[in-house]
Amino acid sequence: MIKYNTNNIKELEHLFKINLINSATGYKSANLIGTKSVNGQENVAVFSSVVHLGSNPALLGFICRPTTVPRHTYKNIIETKTYTINHIHQDILEDAHHTSAKYPENISEFNKTNLQPEYIGNCTAPFVKNAPVQLELKFIEEMNIVANDTILVIGEIINLYVKEDLLQQDGLIDLSKGKVAAINGLDAYAVPETNIRFEYQRPK
Ligand SMILES: Cc1cc2nc3c(=O)[nH]c(=O)nc-3n(C[C@H](O)[C@H](O)[C@H](O)COP(=O)(O)O)c2cc1C
Repeated sequence: MIKYNTNNIKELEHLFKINLINSATGYKSANLIGTKSVNGQENVAVFSSVVHLGSNPALLGFICRPTTVPRHTYKNIIETKTYTINHIHQDILEDAHHTSAKYPENISEFNKTNLQPEYIGNCTAPFVKNAPVQLELKFIEEMNIVANDTILVIGEIINLYVKEDLLQQDGLIDLSKGKVAAINGLDAYAVPETNIRFEYQRPK
């Protein structure tokens, strides 16, 4: 085994360090967050930090990097209280990854990729068309993480759309059937092929 301690990590070359630490958590969720500014400007960007916070109420969080540079997704969410989370799947990997490019606010990533915006119901933020799972969220609260100046953005699921053939009888969304991707580090995508399920565990 190769060992890194706190000091070794601090001294690592920048790119090596971010690759190492971003993959140290294991696989992460792969999502596109869709927003619209108060002026009607669409925005979509890739996020790997979306996490389940609880089912009742149905809350999801994601981590926003320090707002020392413009963060369009965060700004739009704070201003409009509405955003969408869309699962990245095999057919859109390259375009989804490209949404991490730092475009100016007046350029929509939808116009720079083949990703298409979709409007569903009363949601003012764009969904990503054909994503096998699409979620509409309402901003609930944010928590500043003092240790590194990042922000935990918390939202409640208002509407959840899932492709019919992915939904199992007991409520599980079969992500592998939908060819939904997972992220390894910062730029590697995996598309899992199997789900091995186990029964609810009780003490032996
Ligand atoms: C694989 C991947 C995962 C990312 N995950 C996050 C994340 O969880 N939080 C974050 O703030 N930025 C994340 N980013 C960076 C954003 O995608 C990037 O800053 C983007 O330009 C944000 O767009 P916006 O300014 O339109 O919101 C990630 C980038 C990549 C390539």
